[in-house]
Amino acid sequence: MITTEYLLKYDLIVHLEMKVSLVTGGAGFIGSHLCESLLMLGHRVIAIDNLITGSINNINHLNKDQNFAFINRDVSKHFDIIGDLDHVFHFASPASPPDYERGPAKFST
Ligand SMILES: NC(=O)c1ccc[n+]([C@@H]2O[C@H](COP(=O)([O-])OP(=O)(O)OC[C@H]3O[C@@H](n4cnc5c(N)ncnc54)[C@H](O)[C@@H]3O)[C@@H](O)[C@H]2O)c1
Repeated sequence: MITTEYLLKYDLIVHLEMKVSLVTGGAGFIGSHLCESLLMLGHRVIAIDNLITGSINNINHLNKDQNFAFINRDVSKHFDIIGDLDHVFHFASPASPPDYERGPAKFST
């Protein structure tokens, strides 16, 4: 019989828990790669992005994963997430200076 002690001893318990991670800027350069890595680690991933500098093409391949959800939304506006989150990764900010200079007011997240 597999006991909790056995699972803890071999560090397997983490694989049985499904962590839920929220990634803002999930369609951006860093965010999309992070989403991919988290899914590979067995997390459920919610990506939020308003696509102001990111692209849906960065996450198209993740959409078929049932543990991945994408929400098109501006994170500087209030929103609710129903349910518990284990991690929040905040990358919703344009990295390149030209993008930032195009509209800093829009990018104040
Ligand atoms: N790329 C790098 O090498 C690097 C290195 C160090 C730190 N960073 C930092 O990491 C962060 C992300 O960088 P990146 O290279 O992935 O940039 P990126 O522009 O590719 O990604 C940012 C994402 O955030 C989204 N976004 C911006 N404002 C938003 C808002 N208000 N609501 C929802 N989504 C919004 C954009 O659409 C985009 O998809 C930046 O803060 C950057 O300074 C990046």
